[in-house]
Amino acid sequence: MRESISAPFPAIGLSARAEALKPSSTLAVTAKIKTMVAAGVDVIGFGAGEPDFDTPAHIRQAAILAIESGRTRYEPTPGTMEARSAVARYMNRRHGFDVDARNVIISVGGKHALYLAFMALMNDGDELLLPAPYWVTYPAQAQLAGGTVRIIQGRVENGFKITPSELEAAIGPRSRFLVINSPNNPTGTMYSPDELRALAEVVLRHPRLIVFADDIYERLVYGPHPFVSFATIHPELATRTVTFNGLSKSYAMTGWRIGFAVAAPHVIKAMDALQGQMTSNITSFNMPAIVTALEGPQDDVEKMREAFACRGARMYERLCAMPGLACARPEGAFYAFPDISALLGRRDEMGTELRSSSDFATSLLEQARVAVVPGEDFGAPTHIRLSFATSLERINEGLDRMEAWILSLR
Ligand SMILES: Cc1ncc(COP(=O)(O)O)c(C=O)c1O
Repeated sequence: MRESISAPFPAIGLSARAEALKPSSTLAVTAKIKTMVAAGVDVIGFGAGEPDFDTPAHIRQAAILAIESGRTRYEPTPGTMEARSAVARYMNRRHGFDVDARNVIISVGGKHALYLAFMALMNDGDELLLPAPYWVTYPAQAQLAGGTVRIIQGRVENGFKITPSELEAAIGPRSRFLVINSPNNPTGTMYSPDELRALAEVVLRHPRLIVFADDIYERLVYGPHPFVSFATIHPELATRTVTFNGLSKSYAMTGWRIGFAVAAPHVIKAMDALQGQMTSNITSFNMPAIVTALEGPQDDVEKMREAFACRGARMYERLCAMPGLACARPEGAFYAFPDISALLGRRDEMGTELRSSSDFATSLLEQARVAVVPGEDFGAPTHIRLSFATSLERINEGLDRMEAWILSLR
């Protein structure tokens, strides 16, 4: 009989890449809430970046039918022609973006599509221009791909959006990539079509710049501006933009892991080759579900959007009424992003000084059992992010608790 190896295992050195990587703080908050809830703690979670709705029934049925009819084997790596064509038709129909299946790759969530694009296009030392606040994954992936990151700090008074002159001033000799994420995670704000066109003019003056347009929240829009996909602003931008989108947020399908990228065919080919060595195709029985989601009834998407609009308005109203908080009105996605700087330096009931948004979030969770995400990892250390992807009752209850906790600070 073989002897079993007992822990502790001898320490194995990690790669410099793994050592340098910061784990996702948003996923960490979600995991912490789930652990607390499993332990019986009544936590109100404003941490999650995912809809609380179930995937619409007709989409679920499409996948069930696919499994039952034996759709269980390997599929083409970038997605089936049917699924890629459905994405291309969607881009045409909704955004007037004239593309076909060769311009599309389907990946394991928008997150993996983004990683493939960084790996396919970025060389060591290339610089990513990243407007802050930003989704935590962009700098992490750029770093994994060997790039550097130059932050362009959005100003609160401009809804955290960068201006053409701020963009122009940030562009240096190594700048190769610019992320545009509108509607934005974490701020919930969104560029108007005119603001985007003005940024596009700057990009057009710098032929080396490639834009990563992250459109994942494009269906969740509540403000005065219509959504415009960056690549459609000018024919040249269509060739210099990689557009990211997916089914996670719009169709309440976060766990299915279906994202896609739209780009020039040679870029898609390179991403396909990378995906072929990483994950191969996404789950086989999800392919028909993609076609059903994009081309079937869209009523559920609109119903969810209306519910988010109503919840966002309530959350915004209540946050604005709380002492010490200042908040921009959410215009898209499902996040409110209040400024908590007036409360920093106060002490909670245990006498702990709140010196940072992390201290703020930790005390709020421990004492009021309300989970929010601190702003540090989004590049906004005096803000917190609250997701309103939860019911109105939970929003009211959580904000009651938060208000009482704020009033108790000294
Ligand atoms: C801004 C942004 N882009 C992309 C994604 C990727 O989503 P998924 O990988 O579920 O498609 C997310 C998810 O949180 C996001 O917030």
